[in-house]
Amino acid sequence: MKASNKHEWWQSGIVYQVYPRSFMDANGDGVGDLQGVLAKLDYLQWLGVDAVWLSPIYPSPMADFGYDVSDYCDIHPLFGTLQDFDRLLAECHRRGLKLILDFVPNHTSDQHPWFLEAKSSKTNPKRDWYIWRDPAPGGGPPNNWLSNFGGPAWTLEKETGQYYFHAFLREQPDINWRNPQLREAMHNVLRFWLDRGVDGFRVDVIYHIVKDDQFRDNPRNPEYKPGMNPHHEFLAVYIADRPEVHDIISGMRKVVDEYPERTLVGEVYLPIERLVMYYGEGGAGVHMPFNFQLITLPWSAAIIRDAIARYEAALPSYGWPNWVLGNHDNPRIASRVGRPQAKIAAILLLTLRGTPTMYYGDEIGMHDVPIAPDQVQDPFEKNVPGMGLGRDPERTPMQWDPSPNAGFAQPQVRPWLPIAADSTTVNVETQRGDTGSILSFYRRLIMLRRAKPALSVGGYSALPVEGNLIAYVRTDAECSDGECFLIVLNLGMTDARFAVEDFRGRVLLSTHPDREGQAIAGDVTLRGNEGLIVELSR
Ligand code: NOJ
Repeated sequence: MKASNKHEWWQSGIVYQVYPRSFMDANGDGVGDLQGVLAKLDYLQWLGVDAVWLSPIYPSPMADFGYDVSDYCDIHPLFGTLQDFDRLLAECHRRGLKLILDFVPNHTSDQHPWFLEAKSSKTNPKRDWYIWRDPAPGGGPPNNWLSNFGGPAWTLEKETGQYYFHAFLREQPDINWRNPQLREAMHNVLRFWLDRGVDGFRVDVIYHIVKDDQFRDNPRNPEYKPGMNPHHEFLAVYIADRPEVHDIISGMRKVVDEYPERTLVGEVYLPIERLVMYYGEGGAGVHMPFNFQLITLPWSAAIIRDAIARYEAALPSYGWPNWVLGNHDNPRIASRVGRPQAKIAAILLLTLRGTPTMYYGDEIGMHDVPIAPDQVQDPFEKNVPGMGLGRDPERTPMQWDPSPNAGFAQPQVRPWLPIAADSTTVNVETQRGDTGSILSFYRRLIMLRRAKPALSVGGYSALPVEGNLIAYVRTDAECSDGECFLIVLNLGMTDARFAVEDFRGRVLLSTHPDREGQAIAGDVTLRGNEGLIVELSR
């Protein structure tokens, strides 16, 4: 969709994340695959999204479910073949959908041929493609760096007597982007997929890819208390967000810019002021560093109002905003805020200024599924059990219909993660036929957004409200049709009055259908969990 000639598809469009293992199992092994995604493209087109981001589909021992890549330029047989991929890409393009791949540049699998070579001897030409250190004087790991998934970030490679660094699992050795040959090899990986026609990359933990060259100890976190995520015992000062990272990212960006209309989106979990640095100087960084504030902040109107304002103020002139509501690493929105507020969250995601990224299943209100101890798959949960850090609950199979495996897999198949108990009612087929469902709401919202460029690429101004309300206007500043929309959201469960002199309009869309079509002027009282999109009269 090109909402305006001045905007690229990745600015006006909606990104939809597919976690391939859990989307649709076409070959009967209980794990989703590319044929499954292909079979559901009509659904995505009906829903009205513009781009599909696929989490990793490359060959991998699956220690971290694909985020441990053993070959960057092929497809895991679980998911299909390169031919399947080419077909999927062609079918996306035929439907006007873009396809974004996950690029995992911080680490490979320990089974990647590069690492097998690197660990074979200290003098192997690929040794320097990874990060090696001698033991500390007296033995033990070279410094206090910790893995994100629990335990030390260093593992001893016994044959050569050195430790290698891994920010995640020991099966995910970090690669050394300071090495020019490694850099070139990774650039060629990007070119391999760009040449095939992919429309861009979501870059895994892009802010992690360079580490301190002096290997200094991380400082203690003064706020750390036992019972917290053990990784947070130290501040990640020397293992993430290093100044040199921006030069490496601009190298990736140059490669992507060799091809027209492609995009680079970076996974960055940092405070806003650090986050916006990832646009790079003059825009030489990623097109969009993911903005996770709707995921990471408490669901409080005051906090979110403040966060939107700080984000808008911190964006550089060349920085296009974006918002993310859910992903495969965080509890689902419906579980975090409750089903009634999930519609409010949808309005925020789809009407704030910037590119929205949706997570599969959020459009039907899927919630986190309880995982029994013997069903745990996530290595994070296995390493640090019982702390609620595991990510399986938000990765369960998509619910397509009321049948036993929710249409994700044939009824006799055992899916790799359990199906939600409420899938007989919470599923695409049932909700498509119900005008009051969250799916029907999402679709109408998306259709409205597609029809009204002010909502996607228009100007934004916040309105001064208090309490549980959030209110803003999307204007015609950059649209040709001159339309303006007022968005008012009640994040609370009780009535809240919105009063701003001098406005009048008609409710176009609401969480509460009895409100639609209503004319309002001056003030309006929203019920609990109510949200409105009002077309303002000029
Ligand atoms: C971030 C990914 O989103 C997550 O799923 C993965 O485990 C880590 N990076 C390591 O690649």
